[in-house]
Amino acid sequence: MSSEHAPYAPKRILITGAAGFIASHFTTRLIKNYPNYKIVALDKLDYCSSLKNLQPCLSSPNFKFVKGDLICADLVNYLLVAEDIDTIMHFAAQTHVDNSFGNSFEFTNNNIYGTHVLLEACKVTNQIKRFIHVSTDEVYGETDLETDIGNPEASQLLPTNPYSATKAGAEMLVMAYHRSYGLPTITTRGNNVYGPNQYPEKLIPKFILLAMKGAQLPIHGNGTNVRSYLHCHDVAEAFDVILHKGVIGHVYNIGTQRERRVIDVAEDICKLFGLNPKEAIRFVQDRPFNDQRYFLDDQKLKKLGWQETTPWEEGLKMTMEWYTKNSDWWGDVSAALSPHPYLSVEELLKNYDNVCTLRVRMPISSDLSNPRNFITKISRYNKVVNISNSMTVLDELLPISIEMAKRKCRGIWNFTNPGVVSHNEILEMYRKYIDPKFKWENFSLEEQAKVIVAARSNNELDAGKLKKEFPELLSIKDSIIKYVFIPNKKT
Ligand SMILES: NC(=O)c1ccc[n+]([C@@H]2O[C@H](COP(=O)([O-])OP(=O)(O)OC[C@H]3O[C@@H](n4cnc5c(N)ncnc54)[C@H](O)[C@@H]3O)[C@@H](O)[C@H]2O)c1
Repeated sequence: MSSEHAPYAPKRILITGAAGFIASHFTTRLIKNYPNYKIVALDKLDYCSSLKNLQPCLSSPNFKFVKGDLICADLVNYLLVAEDIDTIMHFAAQTHVDNSFGNSFEFTNNNIYGTHVLLEACKVTNQIKRFIHVSTDEVYGETDLETDIGNPEASQLLPTNPYSATKAGAEMLVMAYHRSYGLPTITTRGNNVYGPNQYPEKLIPKFILLAMKGAQLPIHGNGTNVRSYLHCHDVAEAFDVILHKGVIGHVYNIGTQRERRVIDVAEDICKLFGLNPKEAIRFVQDRPFNDQRYFLDDQKLKKLGWQETTPWEEGLKMTMEWYTKNSDWWGDVSAALSPHPYLSVEELLKNYDNVCTLRVRMPISSDLSNPRNFITKISRYNKVVNISNSMTVLDELLPISIEMAKRKCRGIWNFTNPGVVSHNEILEMYRKYIDPKFKWENFSLEEQAKVIVAARSNNELDAGKLKKEFPELLSIKDSIIKYVFIPNKKT
């Protein structure tokens, strides 16, 4: 079938991941240019998305937003049938490579299993006329720096990180449903995209927000990795072309021939903010694996009539202006701005309102034979540092944790006794109650400075919230005496 002769005319389109970065631009473009299409946007509104991204669509009569998770088969089946969907544009995914080095199961779950649920729903409902699957250039793995030939669509898939591996896995399922069940699929593999609405964990918005705050721009490794960036409006147009003119069963690269090193991107952003790159850029530890380059052959899509139109300098300036005006689009994004922003467990648990998180510090117990007991540890060291810290006396606090469960306490709690105690103060108590001959040696201040690697190793946690809930809670020193030294008293 020739694409020129048979432009596809969708009627009711399901767009997954629509409140994310790229899909929000594409959805907005469809709503504006095709008022006769009915659009159903499905998104679980993950940390990186925002309904604000879809603001221009919300009041449109042909637009409906559904908050829901792709991995819920009942919901997906229901939507296809109830909304009489004939076309799917599947953007939803976990997309941040850095996170995939931390919590990679989330990537398998959303990217592979989520795609599988969608495909199965298409098979069961048997009404889909186009399934456009959005994949990435990263599935090809890295391109040699020396070559000037980009990866054509027929290249082998050789992903190198958990994110791209899950995207390649999803593609395999799409291919299988096309071959096995005749599902009319088209797959796209795109270069990096930049522009407004992109969550600031990604390089360009992260650097813009850091530069705005006058903070340094952290570059993974030495910054010589090469990336190809397309502006989001050009990419939205590419999806428009593929939706209407793409040929079933085909793969289309969405690429640019213009490449730039990460260090050049950082320098261009410094220039926009009038910063001296030598002072503003800092090199940090590289990712576990960081592809040198993703270079695509972009001819096939060009033959469908698409071409990139936004010059880099103009696109970057518009993006900078948008972030300057909308710096609080997602609220507090400070965690995303760190050089390696792995999601902490505490961050993940915030999604559950029935979880109580207890922050224990330097646990102490009355079992002085347990090698993990902080007192046992420091009494066996040849030399000890002397620093004041918050600590947790387990004998007193574990029963409190049970009481907290009974009281249905929720949220994050510093789970320490009020106040601080130093190493020497504990060892003095040890000498007084356990062994009058006990001696220890402290590091000198200079030695201490060398052995302590962490910038802050004195750490006082505010136990005020716990004390308010349990007014009988003892201060750290009183608790150690009552629960540890008096029961073990030998002198
Ligand atoms: N950003 C890029 O540079 C780039 C380049 C090439 C390809 N891609 C691909 O394009 C697509 C969109 O990327 P993006 O950068 O806009 O992503 P994004 O991270 O900004 O948005 C992803 C969206 O998917 C939603 N989502 C994730 N899992 C979901 C689930 N299980 N159910 C419902 N919604 C879910 C999220 O809430 C979010 O709104 C992805 O498939 C990505 O792999 C992105």
